[in-house]
Amino acid sequence: MLKRREDYTPPAFLVTSVDLNIDIHELSSIVTTKLAVTPNPAAGGAGILHLDGRGLELQAISIDGKPLADTDYSHDESGLQITGLNGACVVETIAECHPETNTALEGLYLSGGMYCTQCEPEGFRRIGFYPDRPDVMSIFTVRLEAARAYPQLLSNGNLIETGHCGTDRHFAIWHDPHPKPSYLFAAVVGDLDCAVDSFQTMSGRKVNLHIYVEKGNVGLTHHAMDSLKRSMRWDEEVYGLEYDLDLFQIVAVSHFNMGAMENKGLNIFNSKFVLADPKTATDTDLHRVESIIAHEYFHNWTGNRVTCRDWFQLTLKEGLTVFRDQCFSADMHDAGLQRADDVSMLRAAQFPEDRSPTAHPIRPESYREINNFYTATVYEKGAEVIRMLASYLGKDGFRRGTDLYFERHDGAAVTCDDFVAALADANGVDLSEFAGWYSQAGTPELTASRVAIDENQAFAIEFTQTIPETMAKTPRLPLPIPVRIGLVGDDGAIVPFRLSADAPYLDEQVTLVTGKTHLQPIFPASSGKVVPSLLRNFSAPVILKDDLSSSERLHLMAHDADMFNRWDAAQTLLADQILAIADDPNHGVDETAIAALAKAYANSLANPDLLDMFKSGLLTLPAISVLESRMTPADPVALFHTRRVVEAALGRMLAPQIKSALTDENVAIMTKTNGGRALLNRLLGLAIAAGDNAAIERAANQVHDQNMTLSQGALMALNHCDHPARAIALQAFHDRWQDSPLVMEKWFMMESMSLVSGTVARLGELMAHPAFDANNPNKLRSVLGAFMTGNPVHFYADDGSGFDFIGDCLIDIDARNPQLAARMALPLTRMAQYAPERRAKMGAVLEKIQKQAQSNDLREVLDKALGDRPSPA
Ligand code: TRP
Ligand code: ZN
Repeated sequence: MLKRREDYTPPAFLVTSVDLNIDIHELSSIVTTKLAVTPNPAAGGAGILHLDGRGLELQAISIDGKPLADTDYSHDESGLQITGLNGACVVETIAECHPETNTALEGLYLSGGMYCTQCEPEGFRRIGFYPDRPDVMSIFTVRLEAARAYPQLLSNGNLIETGHCGTDRHFAIWHDPHPKPSYLFAAVVGDLDCAVDSFQTMSGRKVNLHIYVEKGNVGLTHHAMDSLKRSMRWDEEVYGLEYDLDLFQIVAVSHFNMGAMENKGLNIFNSKFVLADPKTATDTDLHRVESIIAHEYFHNWTGNRVTCRDWFQLTLKEGLTVFRDQCFSADMHDAGLQRADDVSMLRAAQFPEDRSPTAHPIRPESYREINNFYTATVYEKGAEVIRMLASYLGKDGFRRGTDLYFERHDGAAVTCDDFVAALADANGVDLSEFAGWYSQAGTPELTASRVAIDENQAFAIEFTQTIPETMAKTPRLPLPIPVRIGLVGDDGAIVPFRLSADAPYLDEQVTLVTGKTHLQPIFPASSGKVVPSLLRNFSAPVILKDDLSSSERLHLMAHDADMFNRWDAAQTLLADQILAIADDPNHGVDETAIAALAKAYANSLANPDLLDMFKSGLLTLPAISVLESRMTPADPVALFHTRRVVEAALGRMLAPQIKSALTDENVAIMTKTNGGRALLNRLLGLAIAAGDNAAIERAANQVHDQNMTLSQGALMALNHCDHPARAIALQAFHDRWQDSPLVMEKWFMMESMSLVSGTVARLGELMAHPAFDANNPNKLRSVLGAFMTGNPVHFYADDGSGFDFIGDCLIDIDARNPQLAARMALPLTRMAQYAPERRAKMGAVLEKIQKQAQSNDLREVLDKALGDRPSPA
């Protein structure tokens, strides 16, 4: 059934408090929900009380202690409808559920011998009967009972009582004083180890911090614990937000559909985002752990204290919280680099989604399965929209806005409009123009061309925006696009400028493009040639088409004061070279252009003012999914090969620099910092692409390093290279880590992404490996997900064998875990940009899956993909 945003109605009843009892037994669990309900004044009088319930066996139902007659309620697959309630009363239900056979990983399920829950967005209804919608916020008291073989009985809030039930069972009672929607409920029952620490809040309260992990893993929690404390401090310093309970708990579980979940006071994490140290995780992994810990912690205010009225408003909490975690990471590390990473991700994942059959605005208008809307659009594009608002208001103005937002809406379930209104009201400004960013899908294209306006130095930039048509069929009105501008002089220095003849001269300014076209005059402070640097720090989530020449881009790459644009200039230059060859196989490498680029890189490498980490980012080639957007029809196989050709050419031309960087003394220094390690790995990658045998030998040795960044980096550098060293290195890595399930995910990924060995036959072998677990999403993602996004040559193979193999896997996965199947099917649905033969093969597989798909989740995705499919020619 399709749900529409415009059909929102408030709930007929509110729940003032709930007593939940979960009684866990081996063959089933019994859940009692006792709800104090009251008619909702906002809904206008008593109506029908709807209690959601899915897959539950109802055992008893009573109102104010009296069993309900069959005629007083109805029961269907969506839950219970209770009629005839006039005023406040207590509704009690008893239901049976089956965590022990739950493979969907929603509701209450078993993961590695521990019971845990995942309720967002609609999982609570699989546990007990309840109005499972975010605008019903209630005070929860939870009693958990289980065998004493499970010492930990955890839930939200404060522990208020524990005790024994006979000789072999025990219980715990938790009370959470903060009203919350059911999606933030959590419980964990298991036999776990715990890392303990504490944090003193800005008002001097002590908060106990507990991180629970599977036995033997406490040693791997230090980084997560430190990250948590840094996050707590940052939210106090930057937003004035303090934690609001005396206990904050994190539990790491091995079977988890996503990254982590912000349940009130009891975050549950995919273990791969908690358990990490430099021996088992790369520097990038550690960075990721820190940002996810921060993300979930920040949800305590943006999501939990102030939550979403309905699921169409998901970006209210997710866009804002991603923006907050991105800013936190920028403050903890290098801001320019963080921006480059975040934009790479946006371009590689969200831009493709925005032109795909599942395109949607950050605030969707309709859905069949809300699980399908936890997307790069809602999260990452949502964060970009918040970023535009924040930079428009300035640091202090944005803070005034969030202060008012919390003051107005604390303890409430609100909408995106409420958020924007708080920002506007706090600053006395009109933000109504920005509303279009919430309601329109598609990535705007912005062209910028220079026009001369007088024979002195003044010129103008003519901007034109185009909003593409998408399958979401949302309006296509011009959007407000903030374009941050700077000028770089011929000597590389900053040239101040003004935007009109009587305005002040500034080094950098923002022009807001609001109409379809916009003419922006630029008056530089000095004569001489200048190169405009546009959309600095990626000031809006658009595709910019400017009129810079290659030599102007090289100039920006060398001198731009905006580090993001230095990096981006290099990205464009690299993409230009790759696409020139991909479009015309006879073209070959443009030796002159690559030599110019290599010279710019040589200068950057020699520049002591640049961070090693930045140099490494500068030398990273654009992702295939980014390149695809500039090729019609896109050919991912050709792009993979031509990307390698350019990488090899660059490696060849930079050979002298790489050789002098990779001396034993230099390498010993580089391995000591994360920037140095990143650069070392990147240089190895370039040299190996160019066929350098000394680099192959160095990488083959480096695989054995005790530091995972170095070990994995060396493997990645070797991974596409058809040389015996690759197979030997992979085998050694396998043998060393075969008893470490998380590290084995890295091995699975490298095997399945390898151009040399990552064939469908090999995927079959990997799935039969003892470390593989078909019920574990991480394992499925590291074999099949990595293949789809990281092995274009075999996945998009002309004979369709990659599609066929994945199609069969998806049908299989759907029967166990629909949420995961729907998510993993997405690459197959992105076929519009390909040539007819490839499109036809993908379509045929989608049709086969469509016939066998069981779930609403997977069917929504397939129906969208097959709906308006351009017929194969
Ligand atoms: N709200 C979580 C976050 O962004 C993510 C989430 C949504 C999730 N649905 C989920 C996590 C289902 C696990 C399973 O932080
Ligand atoms: Zn989130």
